Amino acid sequence: MTDPARFPFPPAGDVRPPDAYHDVLHARAPHPVQLSSGQPALLVTRHEDVTAVLGDDRFSRAGYTELARPLFARKTESVLLATADAPDHTRRRRAILPAFTARQVRLLRPRLEALAEELLDELTGGAASGEADLVGGFTVPFPMRVICEVLGVPLEDGAMLRAEVDILMSTSGHTREKVAATQARMDDYFAALVADKRRAAAAGTPADDLLTRLALRPDDDPEQRLSDREVVSLGSGMLMAGYETTGNSFGMCVVLLLRHPTLAKTLREHPERVPATVEEMLRFSSLNNTGGAPHLVTEDAELGGCPVAAGRIVVPLTDTANRDPAVFTDPDTFDPERPDVASHVAFGYGRHLCLGAELARAELQIGILALLRRFEVLELAVPEEELDWRRTMFINGVWQLPVRWTAATVTTGTPATAAAPVPAEGPQG
Ligand code: HEM
Repeated sequence: MTDPARFPFPPAGDVRPPDAYHDVLHARAPHPVQLSSGQPALLVTRHEDVTAVLGDDRFSRAGYTELARPLFARKTESVLLATADAPDHTRRRRAILPAFTARQVRLLRPRLEALAEELLDELTGGAASGEADLVGGFTVPFPMRVICEVLGVPLEDGAMLRAEVDILMSTSGHTREKVAATQARMDDYFAALVADKRRAAAAGTPADDLLTRLALRPDDDPEQRLSDREVVSLGSGMLMAGYETTGNSFGMCVVLLLRHPTLAKTLREHPERVPATVEEMLRFSSLNNTGGAPHLVTEDAELGGCPVAAGRIVVPLTDTANRDPAVFTDPDTFDPERPDVASHVAFGYGRHLCLGAELARAELQIGILALLRRFEVLELAVPEEELDWRRTMFINGVWQLPVRWTAATVTTGTPATAAAPVPAEGPQG
């Protein structure tokens, strides 16, 4: 008998998931692998089974976290939401959720539109045509500026924080000691920032941002209390979750847009089709190079008609669920008009469903529309095979996206709505 394959599988170096996912999905039953921590686990691949694991308390994140050393060098404390179960998970999630509701994101939209235009002004410098790296100049700085404003992180610290996050979000290439030292610096940075927020509040000038609200959260209700360590970890966790995912996803959306030149034409003529196109881009592209979150099975269960005993570890793969032919017709085809796209699980499912999904959607829609309005011609400046994919990182994407552009004759500039102030919203909003 051959040994189970090592998991995670090597990334494809493309927007698509690893080729091996195709075979494990078509086998239909949970697939045995060996995790990089050395433990045996079962990959859960079908849409029905993936949503079953993500939606059922018998599959425990905290149980796995207690059992195993982390798959990679990062401390599990650095991902306080993803590795926790109720009640800790619910308490932490409840503290953050009000900043990311659909209503709050609607209020943020004018500001997002203004930020997108500002960045494109900087990128083009008023020229009629040119070449630029969209990752360095737009797709990453855009969500970075947004999350810095939402959290209350000074923008001038962005470059330093990105360098630290590149170390923390690497799956290889850095020693455990280096990752631990980076994590400690990140924690110190956020601890100092939280202290500043508290001082400003004590002086009667509290900032209107998420870190201030977390730092000042009333602690008279022990059920809801966040420790100082939790506030610090949630701060750095939200920074990473906020720009690293969206920035890289945005880069992959642009790769898909450039691969399908008629799509840009269609979307310019029918901007109302951008939201559905973004959903298909999310379904089609693979963002998580490490597969998915391992869960400990706490009671005997059944997945895909196979018994799965308590004590086993299962890893639900949203990328295979997104290509399950039982749910998506012709799943390996990129089809911006597919009627079944709403079933995708690119933002996860169940209790850990992405907290920033509405914000991410708004950023991707606004970012793509801004590119389409600004540029009449937008094309890769290098052959696509030369793109450098983030194979050694948790999050898939490209390191650079060199493009050639020609500005549209009439650029829209800052949209009229951009001047509207963002209404302040309290933690209960
Ligand atoms: C295209 C962009 C994004 C994608 C594809 C994405 C995807 C995901 C996925 C798949 C999960 C679930 C992971 C799991 O099951 O453990 C998740 C969780 C999460 N995401 Fe996102 N995300 C994006 C953007 C954002 C943004 C902009 C934010 C914050 C501003 C954010 C904050 C979070 C948080 C806090 C969680 C943890 C939720 C929990 O465990 O309860 N994400 N995201």
